[in-house]
Amino acid sequence: MFSPVRLVQLSIFLYSFHQAVCKVEFANIKCVTLDPEFADFDYCYLKAVSRTYKYLSLRVKLLETPITKIKINVAILQRLNGYKPFLYNVTIDACKFYKNQKSNPIARYLYSFFKDYSNINHSCPYDHDIIVEKLPISHVNTQVTKVLPVPHGDYLFHSNWYAYDINRAIVDVYATIS
Ligand SMILES: *[C@@H]1O[C@H](CO)[C@@H](O)[C@H](O)[C@H]1NC(C)=O
Ligand SMILES: *[C@@H]1O[C@H](CO)[C@@H](O)[C@H](O)[C@H]1NC(C)=O
Repeated sequence: MFSPVRLVQLSIFLYSFHQAVCKVEFANIKCVTLDPEFADFDYCYLKAVSRTYKYLSLRVKLLETPITKIKINVAILQRLNGYKPFLYNVTIDACKFYKNQKSNPIARYLYSFFKDYSNINHSCPYDHDIIVEKLPISHVNTQVTKVLPVPHGDYLFHSNWYAYDINRAIVDVYATIS
C-alpha cells in the first residue's frame, strides 16, 4: 500500500510527466493556393507575442462565391525518415458535417482545434472570406492532451481544401511535441 505521502508524490510526478509529454509548439505554417482565381490567401502566419502566447492566423479570400460543396482532407504526419502518415488521414465533407456533427467523431475532434477561432462555423454555402484568427498554442495543447499519449517529435498537420472536388488550397502546420 502507498502511504498518503507517497500518493501525493506519485500524483505530482504523474502530473509533471503529463505536463511534460504534452507540450506542443508551432514550428511553421505554409498556405499555398493551387487556384488563385478561386482562393487566395491574404495572410497566413504564426506570431509569438510572448514566451507563452503564440498564435496562428490566416485569411483566405474566396473569389467565386457562393460555394456549396467543400471537402477537407486532413492528414497528420510524423517526421521520421521524412514525413510518414500518423494516426489520421480523413476526408470530411464540410457541408454534410455541419448538419450532423455527431456522425463523425474524428472530424469533430479535428474541428475542435480551430472552431472557436474561425468563421467557418456554419453550414454551406460559404460566401465570405474564411478566417482563423489568433488560434493560441495553449488551445492546441489542451486539445492534444485529450488524446494522450502522443509520442514526442515533429509533426505536420497537412490539409487539402477541395471545392467541387478540385483541390484549391493547401494549409500545412508544422508542430513539435516535446
Ligand atoms: C491520405 O490518403 C489518401 C487516400 O488513400 C492518399 O491518396 C493520400 O496520399 C494520403 N495522404 C497523405 C498525406 O499520406
Ligand atoms: C461563428 O463565429 C462568429 C465569429 O467568431 C460568431 O460571431 C458566431 O456567433 C459563430 N456562429 C456559430 C454558429 O457558432
